[in-house]
Amino acid sequence: MATTSVQSQLNQQVLQFLSKPKKILIDGKWVDAVSGKTFATLDPSTEEPLVQVAEGDKQDVDLAVKAARRAFENGPWRTMTASERGRAIWKLADLMEQHLEQFAELETLDNGKPISVARAADVPLAVDLFRYMAGWTTKIEGATIPISVPYTPGAKYLSYTLREPVGVVAQIIPWNFPLLMAAWKLGPALATGCTVVLKPAEQTPLSSLLLGELALEAGIPAGVLNIVTGFGETAGAALAAHPDVDKVAFTGSTEVGKLVLQAAAGNLKKVSLELGGKSPNVVFSDADIDTAVKGAASAIFFNHGQCCCAGSRLYVENNIFDQVVEGVSQQAKKIRVGAGMDPKTQMGPLVSHEQLQRVCGYMESGLTEGAKAVTGGKRAGTKGYFVEPTVLVNTNPKMKVVQEEIFGPVVTAIPFKDAEDIVSSANDTVYGLAAGIWTKDISKAHQLAAQLKAGTVWINCYNIFDAALPFGGYKQSGWGREMGKDVLELYTEVKAVCTRIG
Ligand code: NAI
Ligand code: MG
Repeated sequence: MATTSVQSQLNQQVLQFLSKPKKILIDGKWVDAVSGKTFATLDPSTEEPLVQVAEGDKQDVDLAVKAARRAFENGPWRTMTASERGRAIWKLADLMEQHLEQFAELETLDNGKPISVARAADVPLAVDLFRYMAGWTTKIEGATIPISVPYTPGAKYLSYTLREPVGVVAQIIPWNFPLLMAAWKLGPALATGCTVVLKPAEQTPLSSLLLGELALEAGIPAGVLNIVTGFGETAGAALAAHPDVDKVAFTGSTEVGKLVLQAAAGNLKKVSLELGGKSPNVVFSDADIDTAVKGAASAIFFNHGQCCCAGSRLYVENNIFDQVVEGVSQQAKKIRVGAGMDPKTQMGPLVSHEQLQRVCGYMESGLTEGAKAVTGGKRAGTKGYFVEPTVLVNTNPKMKVVQEEIFGPVVTAIPFKDAEDIVSSANDTVYGLAAGIWTKDISKAHQLAAQLKAGTVWINCYNIFDAALPFGGYKQSGWGREMGKDVLELYTEVKAVCTRIG
């Protein structure tokens, strides 16, 4: 259990939620793993277990996929009206809003993020996503298409397209925004009439499980949403490979994204991938420097740098380089690092011991290769997975800290000469998820935006998300776009219907 001091601050319902081992959701029922195994999910600020969670594997995945298949083929989900489906999703959003505090606390306990951020960003964004998608249920349309058919002269046809749900969907999500990633995936799947087997990350299963409870309460029929908690190599791999899954949607590392793609080849299930990034954040000397400095700091330090779109390569025009580096370092030093449940905390611990090792390993490799830490550069404290917000300079483009995703609060600051020089440097990465541009010259900003190979470009802002804005990657940052109306294509098949009428 969490430490007594943390427990005393917790919402009663959260304490109750944590008082019983957590189960798997299959066909509307909470069940133990077939193997009977469980694993502990930890509070990363104390390294103490929070609660035991069922450890699902291939056997549980098989049962969950069967339930999802039954619910897809025979259940009421596909036959109810689009309006009814939309109302169920909207009701889920309402229930989530009523449980905002519970979600925020579970997210903070399980992931480590500051409670103020979970309350203001993670939970409201997830609620909003479901509302946005609830609105789409009644607007998913095909088209009537005039056809000419040269080899049947004189014949008349009525042709139209239908957009149908793709079927049973496997969704494998990460731990950096546990509830929000569940929402990004579930929202469109439910809106289009698919049924789902969701596998939360083993580090952060709790908010998905509360979401499962509320989905049942909202009247989403049994079997439409199944949740199998467990590890990636077992439960995740079984889902990606399952022959009766029609589509897999994955968010996580590029390395595992490639494994998911290979596993999906067996039955050629549809694949969408939202993977890593090494996003360039470009500050020109004609920017509002104060705003750019704060923006650049928040681009990398928000969520402890555990964002796939983190602005981890900070490119600064030569003549303001020292000033911006100094400013970002000052911002870094001011960040209050501590347990997420402390309302004053601005940066919590990393999610796990594995991530602590990984991020510290990158910092060490950078420093060994000759980079210099203007601030930070090591673990903070000895208990909990805390690291110092870190600004590295004196890097070169070949260093691992410049090329690879660190997924921690570590930014490499690099000077550039001019608008031409920056295009090749910014695009010098296997990734293409996001980019930032800071300048008052709007035509320069839009010209650069057009040249950057990135799925999202933020100009004079960073980390701005909305349910209506598509998000996803170029290059090895992934396949497909989530959110916005673009995501509906990932969850629907197009059927062309052609009738001879004369
Ligand atoms: P990961 O890619 O291993 O985990 C993400 C999800 O995939 C989890 O649910 C996990 O259980 C599942 N998974 C793992 N192996 C699998 C497999 N063989 N088949 C199917 N599913 C599998 O990421 P991990 O190990 O937690 O973090 C490693 C690095 O990945 C991070 O340092 C970061 O660079 C990157 N990452 C990127 C994220 C993003 O938002 N794009 C999110 C999380 C991690
Ligand atoms: Mg992994």
